[in-house]
Amino acid sequence: MRFPSRATGDGASLITGYKLKSLRDKFGTGSATQFGTGSDRNSAKRFCAATATQRPPHQTDNPSCPPWIVVHFGIPIFSPPQRPANAIIQGPVNRSLITPKTAVPLDPKLVTRRSFLRRGAVATVAGLGIYAFGIEPRWVSVDHHDLPIPDLPDHLVNATAIQISDLHVGRGVEESYLRRQFDYIDALKPDFVFFTGDYLDNATQWHTDKGIKLLSHMPRGKLGTACVLGNHDYGGSTPKVAKNAPNTERLINAFEDQGLNLLINDAVELSGLNVVGLPDLWYGNFWQGSFQKDFARDLIASTANSGATITLSHNPDTADLPIWDGYQSWILCGHTHGGQCKFPIIGAPRLPVANYNYVSGKYQIEGGHKMYINRGIGHSARVRFMARPEITVFRLTSAGKQAKA
Ligand SMILES: [Fe+2]
Repeated sequence: MRFPSRATGDGASLITGYKLKSLRDKFGTGSATQFGTGSDRNSAKRFCAATATQRPPHQTDNPSCPPWIVVHFGIPIFSPPQRPANAIIQGPVNRSLITPKTAVPLDPKLVTRRSFLRRGAVATVAGLGIYAFGIEPRWVSVDHHDLPIPDLPDHLVNATAIQISDLHVGRGVEESYLRRQFDYIDALKPDFVFFTGDYLDNATQWHTDKGIKLLSHMPRGKLGTACVLGNHDYGGSTPKVAKNAPNTERLINAFEDQGLNLLINDAVELSGLNVVGLPDLWYGNFWQGSFQKDFARDLIASTANSGATITLSHNPDTADLPIWDGYQSWILCGHTHGGQCKFPIIGAPRLPVANYNYVSGKYQIEGGHKMYINRGIGHSARVRFMARPEITVFRLTSAGKQAKA
């Protein structure tokens, strides 16, 4: 009987022609029957004894043959080497004995999946950081919208009105950047310019001096300009903590000296368009021991009854005050900076308003009045994400006649 060339018998052992040839070369030709005889059994034993020194060190159970040779009925049969089971599988690994070491690949071409992902994550974070801190805060968007106004005189249909807001003159917003925006607006030659507060970032002496110096460059409308103040013009970023009032007074006087129509609970008529300016909700004279709603409500009602009207108010929360009885036109606001940083799904995580619906853009408010929130040109902290700085260009259109109260 000749040796087979493939595994047979119990199925667990494998005989290859190559291995058998080696065996024949070492112990002479023969057959299984011959190996099964006494002399051949001795040959098998000699083979096992001769190759026992080749046993891998992990094999501690010391049979007389190397692990890849098993003897069936005196026949040495090749068996594939077994996994060093004792070292890997048996028993839990004592991880406390393993202290990870810093290891640097010596082959510079070796990029593991983990290192590839790590480098990609670092590059993504760095890219987003450069964009949010370096690019978007100076990447001004010019947004165009129609503004339908009740009782708009015919000569103002298709007139242009530009809204700017939240300049935050100070250390974080360089003068050259603001001057470029002013020059851009001047080049558009708008009919109206409306400014909706936070001219200064703070009301310190330094900020106020810097702001007053820049005020002469504020863009103007051909038919008129009107402005209101915001909470930062009073020196505060939290409600009802008034400070630096003398500097605010200097700023108010400077606006008046420049003929910019700064309106604090006041109204002005500009070539047939009434403009109402509300005080800042946090610092203005809405609050003087109690809520001074009656003055604003009477002002809005009387002005709106006298013709086409737009209202300027820094803080969008004023849209929710009980002062808009019958008002059907627009309130132009700022203050939120569009959230400054917005994210997909969650939106803006931080907004300085009581009504978190008010972020940016157009709103139809319950009661009939409408609101537009401008994202501002400047900022306090220089970071913006998905909330680019904004210059808004409105085209005035007619919304028909409004019934008088
Ligand atoms: Fe602001």
